[in-house]
Amino acid sequence: MDLKSTIRAIPDHPKPGIVFRDLTTLMGEPEAFAQTCEALAAAFSDAGITHVAGIEARGFIFGAAVADRLKVAFVPVRKKGKLPAKTITESYALEYGEDTLEVHEDALPKGAKVLLVDDLLATGGTAAASAKLLRAAGGNVVGAAFVVELVDLPGRAKLSEVGVETFSLLTFE
Ligand code: PRP
Ligand code: HPA
Repeated sequence: MDLKSTIRAIPDHPKPGIVFRDLTTLMGEPEAFAQTCEALAAAFSDAGITHVAGIEARGFIFGAAVADRLKVAFVPVRKKGKLPAKTITESYALEYGEDTLEVHEDALPKGAKVLLVDDLLATGGTAAASAKLLRAAGGNVVGAAFVVELVDLPGRAKLSEVGVETFSLLTFE
């Protein structure tokens, strides 16, 4: 099935000139959702992954399904102030201002091989901060998998700079 055609384009969201790629329409088609999660898991089925880390919020949806398919543990990377136990924290730049992500400091055992999962790669700030956190928690970040990569933005280069290999299923300009 043509996965790309299941993603809805919303012109001028969240501001004029931006075409927002809305993945809720992909999630709303069971066959498309299943095919997407299968493909992300298949790309890393031989990589010895022990943990999938999903980034709040949309990375939870795909990440949990990929972890289930790989039969490995799931680790949530959350926005500040949500995790109940002791955390490691990392701030990162947004287009305007900054945001903060956290992971439980004991989320990973020594030697964990982690696959980072999110719905979409844009500037790469969110994923790069997540990789830094997971490493600080003792993980070996084997790669990062995205449903969509916006190829006109420097996300892949940013992740490459921090030594994370990027896999994306679909691309948009
Ligand atoms: C979106 C998206 C990625 C991130 C990509 O999340 O789901 O996590 O932005 O952007 P970047 O590559 O430029 O960092 P958002 O911050 O909107 O949070 P949400 O999933 O909670 O809506
Ligand atoms: N879609 C979803 N999330 C995003 C986008 C987009 O086009 N750009 C940055 N985050």
